[in-house]
Amino acid sequence: MSANKFNPAKLAKLNHPDRYSRENPDLIWKTLALADPRVVVDIGAGTGFFAIPFSRLMPTGTVYACDIADEMLLWMEENLPEELAERIVPVKMEERAVPLPAGIADLVLMVNLHHELEDASAILIEAFRLLKPGGKVAIVDWKDEPTESGPPLEIRVSEQSILDQFAATGFEQVRAHASLPCHHFLEAVKPQH
Ligand SMILES: C[S@@+](CC[C@H](N)C(=O)[O-])C[C@H]1O[C@@H](n2cnc3c(N)ncnc32)[C@H](O)[C@@H]1O
Repeated sequence: MSANKFNPAKLAKLNHPDRYSRENPDLIWKTLALADPRVVVDIGAGTGFFAIPFSRLMPTGTVYACDIADEMLLWMEENLPEELAERIVPVKMEERAVPLPAGIADLVLMVNLHHELEDASAILIEAFRLLKPGGKVAIVDWKDEPTESGPPLEIRVSEQSILDQFAATGFEQVRAHASLPCHHFLEAVKPQH
């Protein structure tokens, strides 16, 4: 396991209730203001901290909860709320590739993932491939400044480097939201043409 990866043995930390105020899923969902979303691809889904509330907010849709760690996928399979079992689909992915068809997603979500990626550009290209034209990618990750908790400062990613990756991939309508105390929150759109 690469040194930057989240240690699956600590997965209970991902379900800590403090996260509801610090990285509020409802606020993030409302801010993204998706028009009639049907498919969300959550890359680096962990324990489904976002996949679960996003599925509840999208009662007729599907959330693909993708992760590279078998421990996370197993945890989701065993612990996802029964009523969401049909609507959240755990997916085993590789470091740079998601085994899902192109053009299916209204939203590709990545939370607290960017600083762990070996090849962020490749994952941004995957996000672009997975999105429908007009679909959004949203990246939430720890600010590269001291915060009350979070990964070591030296592995955190600057907002500018994510903005550069959006531009290099072909994303447009980039927006940076200042609503989260400890996290960058960026979104961008796959163009219609
Ligand atoms: C810090 S956890 C965040 C989990 C979840 N997004 C959340 O906010 O609760 C990062 C997750 O990304 C996964 N991960 C790391 N690199 C990945 C990659 N290249 N593709 C998919 N998942 C990855 C890890 O296994 C871990 O579950």
